[in-house]
Amino acid sequence: MSVLEVDSLRVQLPTPSGDVTIVDGVDYAVEAGEVLGVAGESGSGKTISMLALLGLLPERSTVHGTARFEGRDLITMPRRELRDIAGRDLAMVFQDPFTSLHPMLSVGKQLTEHVRRHLHLDRAASQRRAVELLEDVRIPDPEAALRAFPHHFSGGMRQRIAIAIALACRPKLLIADEPTTALDVTVQAGILRLLDRLRREHELAVILITHDLGVLSSIADRVSIFYAGRVVESGARDAVLTHPRHPYTHALLDALPHPEVSKERPLVAIGGAPPAPGRLPTGCAFNPRCAHAVETCRLEVPQLVVAGDRRLACPVDPFRA
Ligand SMILES: Nc1ncnc2c1ncn2[C@@H]1O[C@H](COP(=O)(O)OP(=O)(O)OP(=O)(O)O)[C@@H](O)[C@H]1O
Ligand SMILES: [Mg+2]
Repeated sequence: MSVLEVDSLRVQLPTPSGDVTIVDGVDYAVEAGEVLGVAGESGSGKTISMLALLGLLPERSTVHGTARFEGRDLITMPRRELRDIAGRDLAMVFQDPFTSLHPMLSVGKQLTEHVRRHLHLDRAASQRRAVELLEDVRIPDPEAALRAFPHHFSGGMRQRIAIAIALACRPKLLIADEPTTALDVTVQAGILRLLDRLRREHELAVILITHDLGVLSSIADRVSIFYAGRVVESGARDAVLTHPRHPYTHALLDALPHPEVSKERPLVAIGGAPPAPGRLPTGCAFNPRCAHAVETCRLEVPQLVVAGDRRLACPVDPFRA
């Protein structure tokens, strides 16, 4: 059974010019021990679709669809219950660890408060759990680290601490939203190895959001590609990243800086900009940027349907094997 199963998720946010649809019918599932990679350009609705699950959207937002977490629907669950689950069984880390860490509280205080609140441990037990957590994310000298403050640590170490806090209550699902974007490449690789080990050792389900497909190629089991609030292609990592079939996935991969960039494989940026929410073109939202678009692409919104080894929302399917 999936740890999380999201079905037809739609999110509308209030704006000065009325409600705007930001996420428009998204489906995905993630199992224990599995990493689901979610990728797509900035503004495609990756973060909003996750915040919707945790009840962290602005006031007057509307959410439709279902998100079954261990069989229970997060969307219709009473707020109190959701608050209890979010932070304990379902944890999230953000791009900037300062979003998850309080700058004025010691690392120990933040770790132990969290553990005490959710696991109801006494002072000594929560102290032991805090040390154990820092060891688990490979923070050197955990005892000293507990007395230090977030700004005493490098960006990579801060991210490890944020992950330790997220893991404090042994969640079933970790949503990591661009956890390595602010870090340099070697530190990034270390965090990815850490996530990879944690999901294996703790049977943790992970949703890893990124706009860097290179990150997913090293760790994701399955990937979902977002464009303008919809999933345009999803499937096993190797299928989607080695043989992309949606023109948008293709373009994203072409835009990746390859070490072996050459005349044969020049670096191509995707032409044009993603559409603003509320101002989507008719038909496929990608059609104005797509070299393969035909008449139907301008008229009908393509549905995400099974296409061999994956799901695809492109009637043209120009890269079919
Ligand atoms: N509070 C808000 N009110 C109105 N619109 C918003 C709000 N927050 C985000 N949006 C819009 O929703 C869209 C999706 O935002 P989201 O943050 O989910 O994108 P993203 O895919 O996570 O992008 P990034 O890769 O930059 O993090 C964007 O166009 C954004 O401008
Ligand atoms: Mg985001």
